[in-house]
Amino acid sequence: MDDADLIPPSPSEEDYIAAQEKAGPPLSEIGGPFALFAEWLEAAKAAEPNDPNGMALATADADGLPDVRMVLLKDVDPRGFVFYTNTESAKGLELAANPQAALLFHWKSLRRQVRVRGRVEPTTTAEADAYFASRARHSQVGAWASDQSRPLPDRLALERRVAEFGLKFGLGKVPRPPHWSGYRVIPSAVEFWRDRPFRLHERLVFLRESETGPWRTTRLFP
Ligand SMILES: Cc1cc2nc3c(=O)[nH]c(=O)nc-3n(C[C@H](O)[C@H](O)[C@H](O)COP(=O)(O)O)c2cc1C
Repeated sequence: MDDADLIPPSPSEEDYIAAQEKAGPPLSEIGGPFALFAEWLEAAKAAEPNDPNGMALATADADGLPDVRMVLLKDVDPRGFVFYTNTESAKGLELAANPQAALLFHWKSLRRQVRVRGRVEPTTTAEADAYFASRARHSQVGAWASDQSRPLPDRLALERRVAEFGLKFGLGKVPRPPHWSGYRVIPSAVEFWRDRPFRLHERLVFLRESETGPWRTTRLFP
């Protein structure tokens, strides 16, 4: 297979014209970034085949080397964007060294993306406990069994640990592991990007100087 088969072709003039008919009015800054984000996430829930709350989380280690992986958004409000993970994972160690991150949502079916940048802080233990308690029991046991991001000798080693922790907790409540918690990305910038014909995309950025300051908006060349 050569590259001509592997890489999809660019849209034709006709493709762009057909897409343009569905474009709707320009993006509005009224209501602020969280209201617009909520509107877009609702639209993504209706349109995406799975995980509309999936987002790429970019971190950088102490040397500044970037890293990125998908996580699930589990809460969002004007305080920020929350996800949960193992605090001893690669991302956990990177966030301990450098508590700043970027998020990227890409909703393919809507041809939209949202970029977020900001400082990261741990959620409260009460928030983490409440979310952990809402998870399926097997996922709770899995959080104990997985030494996330550390070498796994073979699949059996994981299954053995799942069985051990399953037995340990029996039918009782599974407590939240001390190494499993949440992080909140407190945005200093949120960019909304919408596909428009002929790569003349629409970009609206919300920026603020401080975490309690007002948002100002700017539009960017695509
Ligand atoms: C759609 C999707 C959602 C995911 N959600 C999470 C999540 O919410 N938390 C998590 O720890 N890992 C999640 N993962 C797994 C991570 O991408 C990653 O493999 C894992 O967290 C280890 O990353 P690290 O080694 O960089 O810490 C998800 C993966 C995918 C593909």
